[in-house]
Amino acid sequence: MGRLDGRVALVTGAASGIGRATAQTLAREGALVVATDMNEAGVQAVIEGIQAGGGAARSLRQDVTSEDNWQAVIDGIRSREGALHVLVNNAGIAWAGSILQMPLADWRRQQAVTLEGVFLGIRTAVPLMRDSGGGSIINISSVAGLQGSPNLAAYCATKGGVRLLTKGVALEAARDGWNIRVNSVHPGVIDTAIWQTVAPSALGMGGGNSADPHAIAAAGTPGGKAGRPEDIANGILFLASAESSYMNGSELVIDMGSSA
Ligand code: NAI
Repeated sequence: MGRLDGRVALVTGAASGIGRATAQTLAREGALVVATDMNEAGVQAVIEGIQAGGGAARSLRQDVTSEDNWQAVIDGIRSREGALHVLVNNAGIAWAGSILQMPLADWRRQQAVTLEGVFLGIRTAVPLMRDSGGGSIINISSVAGLQGSPNLAAYCATKGGVRLLTKGVALEAARDGWNIRVNSVHPGVIDTAIWQTVAPSALGMGGGNSADPHAIAAAGTPGGKAGRPEDIANGILFLASAESSYMNGSELVIDMGSSA
């Protein structure tokens, strides 16, 4: 408890899955959490749960693909909380299917949410984070940002982009004395709602309307089990806290060995 006392944290995509668990975990450790998502009702429910447990949080509707929306969120934090120390760029979608059948509009949407959204988050938040004395940016990539995956090529492209965007910004931050560390997290197969948006047939697997993370983990993860959102949130907490103060430009892989 208390590893983030006095810190202000912004978590995107916080209505569900890894983002929700992260908002809950950071608040439990004392951070004041600003939780955002396109799903306004969903993220409101998350912060009500945090508040009911004695944590400090507020929620906002945010589309991470919107430059104006990012500016409004950061301006709001500057005027209300007065500081920002932790940014978790988590919001994401996954388009699955053969690259040969991918409409350009879907390619652009994949890029806009999972890569451009991270860029916009960094560019908009860094001035306030610098003014706040520095902090930690955590970008959620994937094992699919370390190695290819058939029928997820566009997703892989964005997650590989997040990996090197992270390293480039980490080095710029260090060189220019921002006092901001920038690291990426690479989850393996985690049991969240994202899989409900993926048809098994689009992954080249048979049957059903939505992919079962446990079946996917059984096929490719040592031990055969999908992870829990909390498994990733704990790694994000470590990167957000001073315990990781010598980590910058690093990749934290949390995948039960699936990429080993
Ligand atoms: P999820 O579907 O449970 O949560 C994603 C959240 O992002 C949702 O609440 C959704 O409303 C929000 N979102 C989507 N588009 C948005 C936008 N334009 N603006 C704001 N919010 C938006 O998925 P999950 O699994 O928790 O995903 C979180 C991150 O973890 C994503 O970046 C995903 O790519 C990554 N990841 C997930 C893995 C898994 O197996 N679940 C594995 C590796 C990475």
